[in-house]
Amino acid sequence: MELLKELCKGLPLDSLPENRGRDSRVPHAPAKTPKLSPEEKKLALQNSLRYFPPKFHKQLAQEFAAELRDYGHIYMYRFCPDMEMRAYPIGVYPCKTKQAAAIMHMIMNNLDPAVAQFPQELITYGGNGQVFSNWAQFWLAMHYLSQMTEEQTLVMYSGHPMGLFPSHPNAPRVVITNGMVIPNYSSREEYEKLFAMGVTMYGQMTAGSYCYIGPQGIVHGTVLTVLNAGRRYLGQDDLAGKVFVTSGLGGMSGAQAKAAVIAGCVGVIAEVDKAALLKRHKQGWLMEVTDSLDYCIQQLRKARKNKTVLSLGYHGNVVALWERLVREYDSTGDMLVDLGSDQTSCHNPFSGGYYPVHLSFPEANLLMARDPERFRELVKDSLRRQIAAINRLAEKGMFFWDYGNAFLLEAKRAGADVEKKGAKNMEFRYPSYVQHIMGDIFSLGFGPFRWVCTSGDPQDLATTDLIATAELEDILKKEVAVSVKQQYHDNIRWIREAGKHNLVVGSQARILYSDQKGRVAIAVAINQAITDGRIKAPVVISRDHHDVSGTDSPYRETSNIYDGSALCADMAVQNFVGDAFRGATWVSLHNGGGVGWGEVINGGFGLVLDGSKEAQKRAKMMLSWDVSNGVARRCWSGNTHAYETICRTMDETDNLIVTLPHLVEDSNILEKALHGY
Ligand SMILES: NC(=O)c1ccc[n+]([C@@H]2O[C@H](COP(=O)([O-])OP(=O)(O)OC[C@H]3O[C@@H](n4cnc5c(N)ncnc54)[C@H](O)[C@@H]3O)[C@@H](O)[C@H]2O)c1
Repeated sequence: MELLKELCKGLPLDSLPENRGRDSRVPHAPAKTPKLSPEEKKLALQNSLRYFPPKFHKQLAQEFAAELRDYGHIYMYRFCPDMEMRAYPIGVYPCKTKQAAAIMHMIMNNLDPAVAQFPQELITYGGNGQVFSNWAQFWLAMHYLSQMTEEQTLVMYSGHPMGLFPSHPNAPRVVITNGMVIPNYSSREEYEKLFAMGVTMYGQMTAGSYCYIGPQGIVHGTVLTVLNAGRRYLGQDDLAGKVFVTSGLGGMSGAQAKAAVIAGCVGVIAEVDKAALLKRHKQGWLMEVTDSLDYCIQQLRKARKNKTVLSLGYHGNVVALWERLVREYDSTGDMLVDLGSDQTSCHNPFSGGYYPVHLSFPEANLLMARDPERFRELVKDSLRRQIAAINRLAEKGMFFWDYGNAFLLEAKRAGADVEKKGAKNMEFRYPSYVQHIMGDIFSLGFGPFRWVCTSGDPQDLATTDLIATAELEDILKKEVAVSVKQQYHDNIRWIREAGKHNLVVGSQARILYSDQKGRVAIAVAINQAITDGRIKAPVVISRDHHDVSGTDSPYRETSNIYDGSALCADMAVQNFVGDAFRGATWVSLHNGGGVGWGEVINGGFGLVLDGSKEAQKRAKMMLSWDVSNGVARRCWSGNTHAYETICRTMDETDNLIVTLPHLVEDSNILEKALHGY
């Protein structure tokens, strides 16, 4: 691969590459409005020129100033490589260690236009989930990775490769921090400025840690959510003829279309961006698309009556869809929806994450840049209208949940009626899906474990599917606590069928919710298969940050932590550090991700299995910590499932001693002690 070799030589500075500007064939991020002062603009420009020798400064300064003016950020479009970006097989990257080549494989996947939401702005998903802040950083990172040895670690500061520093073979090859802003300055306004100045970056979760695996990453979780919502709210396993209405067909939200089909229900999903809608249709994840609400209702009624599976994409605003469902109810008495949610990017509501119902998609993009204040007001009004319609339908029996996108939080901030009478500060009228629907999965140690076959060969992926199925079945056969049996059955069903659903977009990856025992067993078995030659190349083990221990986020991952520590981020930080010295190949720690800037701290890792004994040892030690950390914390916060899980894990694990809480059995003694009655 000559082009890859060229790429790994570093920024092309003998003569500047041609500036081809923005490619009109791919979607682009909306322009940002960072409100920089003249001094700050100068700083932004100066900062961006640091990557280039002075002989280019005059020319590039003009160009970068125009980008800052037109798009609110300096992406350095000129340096967007003129080659097909995709996860090439590990063997073709120039490298001195396979660990680095595996990381390059993952980076290239995150920037593949088939995978990434706005590839030229280096955004993988979630509207603003950056892999890097600009293209110079990409070139530099690839160059460092291609020349690094196992005596070095690459240090990444919010997209910027600070350099290769001496370390040792057991250290991570890359340590990434994204968005680590001093807490008192971690506001959205400051973020816009700091990002525009090129000094910080929103890495979302798996975008900035190079571990995104396409919407498959969330399909499995969404299937489990829809199935569990059916069990909990409708009291049934079979969802035939049940209607699930939601919004968003973007990076993660696109998974809802596929999940509805796998769960066997009728899914109707609104999406304002035609490109996102058509992408999912082309992929086969949406069975049908329409921009007519009449047609939408007609198809929904038909599928509901005949109990046929349907995933229908409505090209339009979700508020229009919800309001139409209310009108249908008012005029016919038919309640056409059973389950409802929302996956617009409300973590980023005023910069393209949420589109107000009053405007068409292009009109909204224009207003966002020209009159951000007016745009803000329309977003808030739209959120209020959306909640009003949802509340009407919920009163008539529909069950709605917050899908971890800060929807209810932003709706509350907009003045919508989402209050839960007599509830705690952080609770709303509708539950967060983590709090309610997924039950205590995190407390039981289950989370979105995943792996990527760096050979790029589908046959290797098929082999890993078989290995994972066999390992889970084996664990289930031996002894599994009653509380996790259902999880094991659901996950075995998923992995048995995963190959049939054509879920792969980009790298040859698989997601599988699993607990500590399952994760370790699968990783060890995959490593053995590499040793034996049954799998042709190294496999990267990873997970979503949205997991047992990876994320402190009081409106999502830690929404069921009730001891007051939901606002603390020790767990995520400990996880990042603990994974690093227990054998992770790379680690990352992020501010923001999922519910938004300043609302969450989260971290992730990548671990390269190469078939060696050393890799096996690392997998056992690191994956155990990576789960036990969060289970122990959840146990300490008073969660019964976590208590039982960590006690079982202690019985089965040498050297694990966790502090167990003594819970207050009679809450009257608290009242008496505090109030004397
Ligand atoms: N539940 C989870 O586990 C989970 C996981 C990852 C992300 N999320 C959150 O879900 C949200 C969506 O993530 P994503 O990666 O799909 O983001 P995305 O930005 O790629 O997709 C959101 C989509 O919503 C569409 N949209 C916005 N406003 C709309 C409206 N009013 N009506 C119809 N469509 C509208 C956008 O056009 C966009 O395509 C984010 O906030 C993300 O943080 C949740």
